[in-house]
Amino acid sequence: MNGNAPRTVLGALLAGAVAAAVGMLAGPADAATTLGASAAQTGRYFGAAIAAGRLGDATYTRILSTEFNSVTPENEMKWDATEPSQGRFTYTNGDRILNQGLAQGAKVRGHALLWHQQQPSWAQSLSGSALRSAAINHVTQVATHYRGQIYAWDVVNEAFADGGSGGRRDSNLQRTGNDWIEAAFRAARAADPAAKLCYNDYNTDGINAKSTGIYTMVRDFKSRGVPIDCVGFQSHLGTSISGDYQANLQRFADLGVDVQITELDVAQGGNQANVYAAVTRACLAVSRCTGITVWGIRDSDSWRTGENPLLFDNSGTKKAAYTSVLNALNAGGSTPPSDPPPSSTTPPPSGAGCTATVSLNSWTGGYVATVRVTAGSSALTGWTVTVALPSGSAVTSTWSATNSGNTFRNADYNGQLAAGASTEFGFQGTGTGPAAAPTCQAG
Ligand code: XIL
Repeated sequence: MNGNAPRTVLGALLAGAVAAAVGMLAGPADAATTLGASAAQTGRYFGAAIAAGRLGDATYTRILSTEFNSVTPENEMKWDATEPSQGRFTYTNGDRILNQGLAQGAKVRGHALLWHQQQPSWAQSLSGSALRSAAINHVTQVATHYRGQIYAWDVVNEAFADGGSGGRRDSNLQRTGNDWIEAAFRAARAADPAAKLCYNDYNTDGINAKSTGIYTMVRDFKSRGVPIDCVGFQSHLGTSISGDYQANLQRFADLGVDVQITELDVAQGGNQANVYAAVTRACLAVSRCTGITVWGIRDSDSWRTGENPLLFDNSGTKKAAYTSVLNALNAGGSTPPSDPPPSSTTPPPSGAGCTATVSLNSWTGGYVATVRVTAGSSALTGWTVTVALPSGSAVTSTWSATNSGNTFRNADYNGQLAAGASTEFGFQGTGTGPAAAPTCQAG
C-alpha cells in the first residue's frame, strides 16, 4: 500500500496537468464541436432538411448524424407524396425520414400538411366543399399516422401573398373560405395533441406587410383560442439580412408562440458567413426561438442550384459559414422556456363528473367536431360523451376516443384526468354537426 502512494500522487498530478493542457487547447470549457450539440447547450436544436433518396450516400449520412439533432423531410411528407390518389395514403418515404431522425435521437419537424404547391393532381382539380373536406381529411390522416412522433408540424405553408397587401394568397384552398387555416389547425390539434403546430412562410425576414399580415392572424388565433404554437420563418436569404430580423422574431414571440428558423439558406457571396451568423445570433437572442433548420446539407443537395447556399461544400467539407454558425452558437444566448403546454382555451372546472364542449368546422355536406372534455371537482378514471346528431348526420372517423353511434368513450391514454383538467377528442361526420352541447358522464 505504502509503496503505491507516491505513484498515485504522481498519477494525480499528471492527470491534472493533462487536463489543464487539454482545457487550454479546447478553449472555453463549454465550446461544443458540432452544430446540434452546441445548439443544445441553450436548449435549442439545429436541424437540416433531408431527402430519403440521399440516405444511401455515406458522406451525407455521416454529416447528418454527426452535426444535426433535428430533421425535416424536404418533400416526403407533402400532400403529393403522402396521398397520391384520394384516400390512398403512402408513408414509405416519410417513414424513412422519421426513422432516420428517431434512430439518431433527433427531433422530427413535419412539413407540410397543407400548401398551395405540391398538391396531388386530384386535389388541384377539386374546389369548394369537396376540397375543404379532402384537405381536412388529409390533415387528420397524416397527423394521426405520425401522432406522438413529430416535434412540430408546419400545418399550413405559405398562405400569405407577397407584396404590400398583407393579405392571403389566392389559391384553391383560400377559395374554400378564409377559415381554412384555422380549420386545419384545429384538425391537426385533435389528431396529434402533442405536436407543436406552426404556420410557416417566406419573405417574412423582417417587419414588412407580409409578416405583419401573419402577425395579425396569429394574434387573432391566440385571442380566439385557435390552436397555434409556433411560427416558422423559412429565411431563404440573399446576400444581406434586414436590420429588424430579430425584432420581427421577438414581436411574434411576444404573442405567446415559439418561433423557429425553418428553411435557412443564404446565397453564396462575400457576406454568406456573416448573414448566417446574424440569423443564428438573432435566434439565440430570442428566448422563444427554439431552433434553426438549414434547407439541405451540402451545396450540391440544395434546391437553389448553383447558389451554393449551405454550410458544407459539394464534397462535404465545412465552409466558412459553418464556422461562423458554430461560433455564434457557442457564444450562447437566452434559454428557451421549458416546453409550454399546447395552447387552448380551458373551460372552468364545474361540479362533480365532467363537462364537454364542442367546436365545429363545417362545410356543405360535412364537418369536423372537436370535443373538449373537462373533469369536474374530482379526478376521473374514464369518461363517456354523448352527442346529439341531427338526422342525416353520420360519424365517419374518430380520433382520441372510441365511438359507437353517437357515444364516445375515452381512449386508453386520455381517460385519467385530474380535477379540472381537460382533454380533447374529435370526429368527422357527414351532414350537419351537433347543434346542442354534448353530455358528459364520469366512468
Ligand atoms: C422545395 C424542395 O427543396 C424541392 O426539392 C422541391 O422540388 C420544391 O420544394 N418552401 C418550402 C419548401 O416550404 O417545401 C420548398 O422545398 C422550398 C420553399
